[in-house]
Amino acid sequence: MGAFKLLSCALAVITLTSAAPLTLSHFKRSITNDTSSVSDQHFDYIIAGGGLTGLSVASRLSEDTDVTVLVIESGYDQQNDPRVYDVRTYGEAFETELDHAFKSTPISWRDGKQLSMVAGKMLGGSGSLNGASWTKGPKTQYDLLPLLTGDESWSFENFNEYMLRAEHFNTPDPDAPAIAKGAHYLSEYHGTSGPVEVSFADGMFGTVQLEAIEASQKVWPGLKVNADAASGIVNGVTTIPNQLNPDVEQNRSSAHTAYILSKDAVKRPNLTILTGQRVTKLLWDRKSGDLKASGVSFQHDENSKPISVITANRL
Ligand SMILES: Cc1cc2nc3c(=O)[nH]c(=O)nc-3n(C[C@H](O)[C@H](O)[C@H](O)COP(=O)(O)OP(=O)(O)OC[C@H]3O[C@@H](n4cnc5c(N)ncnc54)[C@H](O)[C@@H]3O)c2cc1C
Ligand SMILES: *[C@@H]1O[C@H](CO)[C@@H](O)[C@H](O)[C@H]1NC(C)=O
Ligand SMILES: *[C@@H]1O[C@H](CO)[C@@H](O)[C@H](O)[C@H]1NC(C)=O
Ligand SMILES: *[C@@H]1O[C@H](CO)[C@@H](O)[C@H](O)[C@H]1NC(C)=O
Repeated sequence: MGAFKLLSCALAVITLTSAAPLTLSHFKRSITNDTSSVSDQHFDYIIAGGGLTGLSVASRLSEDTDVTVLVIESGYDQQNDPRVYDVRTYGEAFETELDHAFKSTPISWRDGKQLSMVAGKMLGGSGSLNGASWTKGPKTQYDLLPLLTGDESWSFENFNEYMLRAEHFNTPDPDAPAIAKGAHYLSEYHGTSGPVEVSFADGMFGTVQLEAIEASQKVWPGLKVNADAASGIVNGVTTIPNQLNPDVEQNRSSAHTAYILSKDAVKRPNLTILTGQRVTKLLWDRKSGDLKASGVSFQHDENSKPISVITANRL
């Protein structure tokens, strides 16, 4: 287990009174680029990709101190980059080292050109470079999922319970600038005790929103103002909040800030987040008859040697 090995390293440093100026807090951080901190170890859960889903799941699983969790992410921790924490820079991260920039197949009606498809390459994934809009899809679409899954529990009502649980809606002051500029909401459709910070952006929310609402009603007579699309009824014209901290700087709230940094998951000895490594292969255990994933292979990039194989105990 990672904690044991890290702890024994720390003890070795202390007993040897090494000259290396390593502090204990150095050993406590879960985020590392160092593959030797995971090789030859077993983890209960291995998560390929430390994006929105990966980090949320890693955080929830590692709340249980009985399980060990490894996340392998191809990008790095980019939290101090303004293209990540400042949503107002939206678009500046595209086609940089923060973007996988996957290429589409050649498109015949675009002279055979390939399009770049944005996909975040860092902790928090696309959630660290997206538009940070916080809303929901139409209730009717969620309610079709049971037809696909055969499981009645995949309904809007049940999903909504978890969506509300993720959210920390920061109710704006009645005289907050965003309200004066046309922001509206209904409290009953927002969660208030989750880790993801959701706010109306006073700084961002001050340009064309009100005019856009009025203009769309002129263009489409009868278009209704929707009090809050988070209800699951999304038709009409409306305003939505963003994933932003409520303070004056309004930094982005992402899976990385909400589920790892603000929950101090980064200090959990049971959680290791390995960055700078791409998962290239899932390993399968066929012994039991059922196909069972038992580990992964990963490598830094296509030119480096595939390094380690890790066995997942519970995957
Ligand atoms: C430009 C843009 C704007 C968007 N705007 C909004 C918005 O305003 N509001 C909204 O709700 N949603 C928005 N979205 C969608 C939202 O960001 C995604 O739905 C969400 O991030 C998907 O989560 P995910 O965990 O599936 O993938 P991601 O969050 O993208 O995470 C995938 C992670 O896996 C890593 N990875 C991939 N392959 C490997 C591998 N082989 N090995 C190791 N790591 C790997 C990636 O680097 C990445 O960190 C936007 C998306 C984009 C691209
Ligand atoms: C990991 O590597 C990246 C890119 O070289 C670097 O910016 C970052 O500081 C490193 N992080 C750690 C925890 O070593
Ligand atoms: C996880 O960490 C806790 C301390 O937070 C420790 O008591 C426990 O033994 C660890 N579990 C595993 C499986 O390593
Ligand atoms: C916003 O994020 C940056 C980068 O992490 C940080 O330096 C800054 O202190 C944050 N602002 C606030 C108000 O927390």
